[in-house]
Amino acid sequence: MQSLVTSCGKVRWVHGHDSAALSREAAGMFAEVLRTEEQPVLGFATGASPLQMYAALVEQTAADPALQAAWRRAHGFNLDEYVGLSPSDPRSYHAYMMANLYNHVPIPRHHIHIPDGTGDLEVACRRYDDLLTQLGPPHIQVLGIGRNGHIGFNEPGDSLELRTHVADLTETTRRQNARYFGSPDEVPSRAVTMGIGDILRARRIVLLAFGASKREALERAFSGEVSTRCPASLLQLHPSVTVFTDQDVRPALLRG
Ligand code: PGA
Repeated sequence: MQSLVTSCGKVRWVHGHDSAALSREAAGMFAEVLRTEEQPVLGFATGASPLQMYAALVEQTAADPALQAAWRRAHGFNLDEYVGLSPSDPRSYHAYMMANLYNHVPIPRHHIHIPDGTGDLEVACRRYDDLLTQLGPPHIQVLGIGRNGHIGFNEPGDSLELRTHVADLTETTRRQNARYFGSPDEVPSRAVTMGIGDILRARRIVLLAFGASKREALERAFSGEVSTRCPASLLQLHPSVTVFTDQDVRPALLRG
């Protein structure tokens, strides 16, 4: 694949023109964790960004018995889930993960961890954090980036929460996700999400940002300034982030 790799500080920037090829390379990083860790802990995201990566991971798994064996020992953690949607709701992130990844790889069902958006949310948040502490942190975590710079459902604001919590979704996010619900009004107004501290604890982070709509958020996130107004900018503090993008952007952090 023709891709340009640039490094600045701890951020590795992989730029190419083909998002499918970039996604295959990102899937390869997950496959490597599966092959090398005794009990692989994988952090997953939802949305459009990781779809091609999941398809590639499914393909790589089908072709490799060693990967199939590794999935049986793996645990998967997801970043977030909408409040009020049950796992069987086709618009839930539970349903997304089953359809796009888990139904196609031999991970034991009880190794699949996705926040619970129903019932007592406070209890659900604490349980999720306890499980993350017990089994985690993830060896590798994939992230998308919101147009407003959010990661998971950690939305821009005066402060950010470290642990799993219930977040109010911004209008930008609800508009952005309306495509899955029919209209912004039908998008749940809250979600359970891992906090920024949970996300930054992952040993390696893979950020996928494809399409022109992600340019501005990428520029801001890697501008050199760290701000709660752009949650993704905190990734600049992490020791091992790889950004895969098909956008010809050179954020300030990578210049000079
Ligand atoms: P997307 O969303 O992958 O659907 O673009 C990313 C995000 O909003 O975090």
